[in-house]
Amino acid sequence: MTIWDKIYKNYLKGGPAWATIEGRLLPHFVNFVKVNKFATKHALEIGCGLGKYLVFLKEFGFRTDGIDSSQTAVKATKANLANDSNIINANMFEYKIPRNKYDLIFSIATIHHGLKPSVKKVIDEIYKSLAPGGKVFITLPDIESNRKWQTFINDKDLGNGVFAPVRGPENGLPHSFYAKPEVRDLFGNFKTVKIKLDNRGKIVRGHWIITGEK
Ligand SMILES: C[S@@+](CC[C@H](N)C(=O)[O-])C[C@H]1O[C@@H](n2cnc3c(N)ncnc32)[C@H](O)[C@@H]1O
Repeated sequence: MTIWDKIYKNYLKGGPAWATIEGRLLPHFVNFVKVNKFATKHALEIGCGLGKYLVFLKEFGFRTDGIDSSQTAVKATKANLANDSNIINANMFEYKIPRNKYDLIFSIATIHHGLKPSVKKVIDEIYKSLAPGGKVFITLPDIESNRKWQTFINDKDLGNGVFAPVRGPENGLPHSFYAKPEVRDLFGNFKTVKIKLDNRGKIVRGHWIITGEK
């Protein structure tokens, strides 16, 4: 059982909603979907959790695929979506996404749960798996915003902007934090990249919101 599997099991039994997992959608993402045009409306979410974003996209006519390393989350997402969705229990750091397939790949509050070379690998994988003109929407935590948080101050410093909580449900799990130039480099292959800091919202405050296209 993964750390996140325990978090979901506990939540579904009536425990606390850790991090982003309760019901609200990130307004930046809702707006991104509403203002952009998507050629084939085929989306992949990395770290789909309980599937709330995929349910939202389904209402906009998208085919909705997802991966998550928590079996509990995958089961819940499948129950919320129709059969044509492909929801896979997989580790994003090992999963090979089919090439040139999706016209939207997105990941919210997820891909920083690992060391920086692994995070870079996922972003490169996303690029290869977008269809030409396909769009990306990703959030990554900003290092400067997070330095102010008490939880972050107590975390174990693993160097190079990577920290691991020393208590709580994510105890020991490395989290990668980024400065803006690093984010720019990570998305160097993409076109029309926009990087905005969310420093006011309630869902991913202190995260970079990154959009771009292949
Ligand atoms: C903070 S939650 C975000 C869930 C959802 N995207 C949201 O915004 O509510 C992080 C998600 O990433 C998933 N996750 C963490 N590490 C993962 C990995 N290595 N591979 C796939 N999913 C992972 C967790 O199971 C969890 O669903």
